[in-house]
Amino acid sequence: MQRLSARGAKLAGASPMAPYILEHFARKVDAWDASDNAAGYIALCIAENHLMDDLLVPWLHRDAQPPARVLAYDAMVGAQPFREQLARFFERTFLGRRFGPEQIATLAGAGTVLEALFYAIGDPGDVVLVPTPSYAGFWTDLETRNALRIEPVPCSSEDGFALTIERLDRAHAHAGGRVRALLFTNPDNPLGRVASADDVRAIAHWAESRRIHVVFDEIYALSVFGECAFTSVARVREELGPYVHIVWAFSKDFGASGLRCGVLVSENEAVIRAVDSVAYWGAVSGHTQWMLGQMISDDDFVARYTHALHERLGETYRSVAEALDTVGIPVVPAGGGIFVLCDLRRFLETPSKEAEHALWRRLVDEAGVNLTPGGACRISEPGFFRLCYAGLPRPAVLAGIERVGRILRGAETR
Ligand SMILES: Cc1ncc(COP(=O)(O)O)c(C=O)c1O
Repeated sequence: MQRLSARGAKLAGASPMAPYILEHFARKVDAWDASDNAAGYIALCIAENHLMDDLLVPWLHRDAQPPARVLAYDAMVGAQPFREQLARFFERTFLGRRFGPEQIATLAGAGTVLEALFYAIGDPGDVVLVPTPSYAGFWTDLETRNALRIEPVPCSSEDGFALTIERLDRAHAHAGGRVRALLFTNPDNPLGRVASADDVRAIAHWAESRRIHVVFDEIYALSVFGECAFTSVARVREELGPYVHIVWAFSKDFGASGLRCGVLVSENEAVIRAVDSVAYWGAVSGHTQWMLGQMISDDDFVARYTHALHERLGETYRSVAEALDTVGIPVVPAGGGIFVLCDLRRFLETPSKEAEHALWRRLVDEAGVNLTPGGACRISEPGFFRLCYAGLPRPAVLAGIERVGRILRGAETR
């Protein structure tokens, strides 16, 4: 008898984490290593960027001494100086205009920001529209504690998974509950697609005309390398207004998922106040704020860093796409993000969820390679797998692709 609450027992009974993540943590100890574990486990399922570690790690042990104030309690949504530094950084980079520090709230990662934001804008049972394919974690973020219900907006591979107004209308009509918000990721995870300025404008307009909130998850804003430049929703409107909110974090663009620092930008004062009221339970460490604040205030560093980020991501993407092509794996072309969606449909025994799961299992068990199965990204057509290419050294990624290719050749000739 564990004597937990009903909700505690529910959490203890079944982790809200997707099975591919649990598998990852179980196998992590046997990770691939060029010199002493070349047959080890290769994780291509986690959206991390370690391509920039050589530029970022020096910031962790610079000579500068933090002020004593980092030891103290401070505003739970982030110390004022940090929010001012963020405002300036956003203006100079992807938001393109100045928000006030009072329109900015920081919390421990984008996931925590989403949790707090949706706590403030939705009640249990309310519906949030999420276009699919989607980032797998939204279900955990929105459903675990907030008890919201996600209504997918299914997009189809037939037209490159385009998100159209018709699809939004259909999902809205089909939702069968009070629709509170649309959660739109740009650049997209898992597609790596960068939305055009027109699309961004149309999506914001669509949500606003229905008087529902629209959250733009722009966590990959700087991680772009393709032909379509990234356009933040902040660039296509004079004002965000009460319905439009932006979420970003240091986790991806600055490869710092372990530092846990996410940011909310909103002009809706009541939303910021409500988030502030729950921020105590997910605040960012004062030391981390100070260190990140120093980093983003160094304009030369930021310029050098973002230039190198685009170069390295683009170069890695091209080499990975070529390796995938060599082993006969088609991909959905990407222009941003740190992953690519692979089309393994023709390697499934049957076009079913079970066959997708069986193939994922074979790749993990026989090749020691973990890809994110499309089911976790709520892709309605079985057979797509996300491959994250920036989290491991290039030789590991290429070895993983080679191993997957070998298994697939077997699958084809069976
Ligand atoms: C689109 C998207 N939003 C949010 C998150 C969560 O980020 P964080 O680690 O900052 O909580 C991720 C992480 O993969 C993501 O891809």
